[in-house]
Amino acid sequence: MSTTARKLNVAAALALAALVTAGCERPPVDEVQHGYRGTGMVQMYNPRVVAEQATHNVVPAAQPAAAEGGPSAGTVYQNVKVLGGLSVGEFSRTMLAITAWVAPKEQGCAYCHEGANFADDSKYTKVVARKMLQMTQKINADWKPHVQATGVTCYTCHRGKPVPEYVWFKDVDNTAAGGLGNRAGQNRSTAAINGASLPSDPFTPFLLGAEPIRFTGATALPTGNRKSIKQAEWTFALMTHMSQGLGVNCTYCHNSRAFNDWSQSPPQRAVAWHGIRMARALNNEFMVPLTEVFPADRKGPLGDVAKLNCATCHQGAYKPLYGASMLKDYVTALAAPVAAAPPPAEAVPAEGEAAPPAAAETSSTGDASPNGAGQPG
Ligand code: HEC
Ligand code: HEC
Ligand code: HEC
Ligand code: HEC
Repeated sequence: MSTTARKLNVAAALALAALVTAGCERPPVDEVQHGYRGTGMVQMYNPRVVAEQATHNVVPAAQPAAAEGGPSAGTVYQNVKVLGGLSVGEFSRTMLAITAWVAPKEQGCAYCHEGANFADDSKYTKVVARKMLQMTQKINADWKPHVQATGVTCYTCHRGKPVPEYVWFKDVDNTAAGGLGNRAGQNRSTAAINGASLPSDPFTPFLLGAEPIRFTGATALPTGNRKSIKQAEWTFALMTHMSQGLGVNCTYCHNSRAFNDWSQSPPQRAVAWHGIRMARALNNEFMVPLTEVFPADRKGPLGDVAKLNCATCHQGAYKPLYGASMLKDYVTALAAPVAAAPPPAEAVPAEGEAAPPAAAETSSTGDASPNGAGQPG
């Protein structure tokens, strides 16, 4: 090998090394204490990543308020099934808002509507959007233990795009092929779990199915605890997604000296517990039933519909949009199912009256709640 060639090789190796290390986070990294002093529960924030994140979480201006009163949309239009109780003014304002949130680019109203016939349901996007209206109302009314009064709008997930940036499909690599066993999608880098060598699809068992997530026994010896290391790996894959989806470390929700112990966990862990149940319920109640409505090119390799996980709403922030509430400007349409149109003589209900019932109890799907003793060993 000539000297020039060797020099070039060295240069190439150095360039490669620079590329490889570029993947690591360059110091300084900010530390923020999260738990009690001495517990080592510190959050690490890279100020450059935080600055970059901030630009993705700017809240768009609200549509101007609609004129009060007027006839209800249900009496004026032909085919409204969800928003019929709104005044025509508030209905039009909602149409403008969802256009800006979901299809602001060249398509506009035509993304969901066929020509000038707004009552026509032939575009699948309109059928999906109607279900999405119901899903948004459901989240805001019935999942308050998770979303609080902050709530969500279409923008929380869509951010100005018809397909949200973070959705998931079942992973082909998690199904057994030809008697060779099932490698659970491991040993390859998957973005949804931060490139970890863990099962690549923890969503199917936990955010669609209701497999148990906790595996730690209650005693030092495995008295009756039949949970395997394999099961622990699935849990760690989900946890890795949760950390990444929220842009936080494990200690945001756990004291790492005892991951299982609720009494040592920060309160955010209980919020996350509801978040897991919420994502699971939304996938089963709203996304899966839309499978037939979506065209083939919107579905995954196994023909399943796009589904949501923590990242769909959070997009790398500990609270979506860092806790800004867009719902407060759309309470009448999106905070809860809209009551049927009032009799024509009556005025349209004022914003406050359409607010969701005070203590909407969340349906938890039967498993031990965070306040309980945890999973039996
Ligand atoms: C993201 C999908 C979507 C976009 C974009 C959209 N709409 Fe709609 N539109 C709907 C849905 C869903 C309904 C039915 C609502 C219901 O059932 O309560 C509807 C119903 C309507 C109706 C009632 C028609 C009837 O007679 O039943 C009108 C009028 C309307 N939209 C106007 C507009 C206008 C104007 C725009 C653009 C500014 C727009 N929409 C953008 C989804 C959309
Ligand atoms: C919790 C997250 C979430 C919220 C909130 C949400 N969506 Fe969606 N939306 C999704 C997911 C996931 C899909 C499936 C992605 C796809 O289309 O492949 C989707 C798909 C859609 C589509 C189909 C787009 C296409 O081109 O296939 C429309 C239209 C839509 N949503 C409208 C709305 C409207 C209108 C609202 C508010 C009333 C809303 N969404 C609120 C998650 C959400
Ligand atoms: C946003 C909050 C949150 C973050 C971040 C988080 N976890 Fe969890 N973790 C939970 C919740 C909630 C549960 C219980 C889930 C359930 O029972 O449905 C749990 C359960 C666990 C368990 C099982 C405990 C048992 O009882 O067997 C382990 C282990 C665990 N997490 C490890 C981790 C690791 C490691 C990380 C970082 C990669 C992490 N967690 C990040 C909320 C979180
Ligand atoms: C439908 C949208 C949506 C989905 C899906 C979602 N969240 Fe959230 N989450 C929110 C909103 C909105 C808030 C803010 C509530 C508030 O203002 O306190 C929040 C708050 C939280 C918090 C409290 C943060 C804090 O600092 O107090 C945690 C923890 C959390 N979510 C975890 C999760 C996890 C884990 C998942 C997935 C299993 C998840 N979320 C899925 C919308 C969502």
